[in-house]
Amino acid sequence: MQEYILAIDQGTSTTRAIIIDRQGNYIGTASQKFEQLVPQSGWVEQDPNVIWQSVCTVIHKVMEGSCISFHQIKALGITNQRETSIVWDRQTGQPIYNAIVWSSNQSLDIINKFKQDDVENYIHEKTGLVLSPYFSASKIRWILDHKLGSQERAERGELAFGTVDSWLIWKLTNGKLHCTDHTNASRTMLFNIHTLEWDDYLLNLFNIPKNMLPETYPSSYVYGLTDSDIFDGVNIPIAGVAGNQQAALFGQLAFHPGQVKSTYGQGTFIVMNTGSEPKMSKHRLLTTIGYSIDNQITYALEGSALISGSAIEWLKEGLNLFESIADSEIFALEAETNSGVYVVPSFRGIGAPYWDSSARGSILGINEFTSRRELIRATLESLAYQVSDIIELMELDTDIVIDILYVDGGAAQNNLLVQFQADILGKTVERTERLETTGLGAAYLAGLAVGYWRNQNELAALVSANEQFKPNMSIKERQERLHGWHSAVKATLYYAKL
Ligand code: G3P
Repeated sequence: MQEYILAIDQGTSTTRAIIIDRQGNYIGTASQKFEQLVPQSGWVEQDPNVIWQSVCTVIHKVMEGSCISFHQIKALGITNQRETSIVWDRQTGQPIYNAIVWSSNQSLDIINKFKQDDVENYIHEKTGLVLSPYFSASKIRWILDHKLGSQERAERGELAFGTVDSWLIWKLTNGKLHCTDHTNASRTMLFNIHTLEWDDYLLNLFNIPKNMLPETYPSSYVYGLTDSDIFDGVNIPIAGVAGNQQAALFGQLAFHPGQVKSTYGQGTFIVMNTGSEPKMSKHRLLTTIGYSIDNQITYALEGSALISGSAIEWLKEGLNLFESIADSEIFALEAETNSGVYVVPSFRGIGAPYWDSSARGSILGINEFTSRRELIRATLESLAYQVSDIIELMELDTDIVIDILYVDGGAAQNNLLVQFQADILGKTVERTERLETTGLGAAYLAGLAVGYWRNQNELAALVSANEQFKPNMSIKERQERLHGWHSAVKATLYYAKL
């Protein structure tokens, strides 16, 4: 009987499932978009039950589409939107509030209360992160503050917290397991990335009872079996779990220190493998756990550009500038190439390295000839500028000269964007043939844990036809454009302070 690995990729706007074989070939894929809730400007929430339903739907779709049975699934991997926080009742299994999504700013006031140098330094030292509403800690606090009686219930051990991976493991095992992996734990702002333990000082600071938190395990590890009711009576080992950006690093087979990937999703997340030692950034990048196998930790340095794909969606949905995302490339190709227009898409604040949650987006440099074409092109270019700033800081932090940037994610299908990325970086950009590296990473982690692949060397030998984009812009033009971009960011940050 031929066996396969199934992976769930539960992203911010879309849930996907993939099935792959031993050669890393896709046997089937399925996806489903689901509803985002925006109760107020700057807030983003999701219904955890809708997330779960979307997972069930894509699994059944992918299985039917590939004509294989659950008996042929050797293991299941899970990868997920990170930081998004859910609190649920252990007894009923029902969430006590919506999931607060990573990009939501509704807990900003809580964060502002802790803005003191000693706290910020402690957070950076222990968790590798910066004090920001992006991470889970203040989101949990927000839920406990806003749901009457929940603090007391949490203290009595009646409530559980989890990022989306924990929620899905809980649902898949019918409430038997409450756990997460090291990569997801490292995004909560409550986890010590050196000792691999929940940090008592931070739990105390945010007044979060420790008993709400999941057990933590390696990313490649047999967590347990799915409940019989879920997959037609078949119990499948859940064997790989990782936050989606770390899973993409693994899916890119970036196993060596110095290798860097950029995934263009709702945000763009640039992650560098830094090996077995955490590299603490001097430039407000994040130190995080890349993956863990057999309790061997591989650390990573990350730059997070919080708004990118969602800016393209805004052009489509908010401004109705085109009908399908693919049209954005067609319009951008017709735009004036050096129009001097800059879009800084900081709709709900700006991420690395500025971390200013009060910033809002701006459009600069328009004139009477500016059409939607220039606006679309400038928005696409903003994705690349943000990446370029982060890559520069990564090189400074690590003293490593990055030769190649590996790219994936939805917007990496856009040739104009990828070529502009190479131009503005002055570096080769390599696009993998398998753009769904996130799901692949989770599948590889799961497969390793159950011996489907013997080791990482075997994975590294899996071939895929990658496409290279070489830089093709003069140094002078690159510098001028970067100067324009940095001026636009400065003006945006200045405006936020007025
Ligand atoms: O940290 C947030 C990140 O995990 C979201 O990724 O691809 O769902 O936008 P994505």
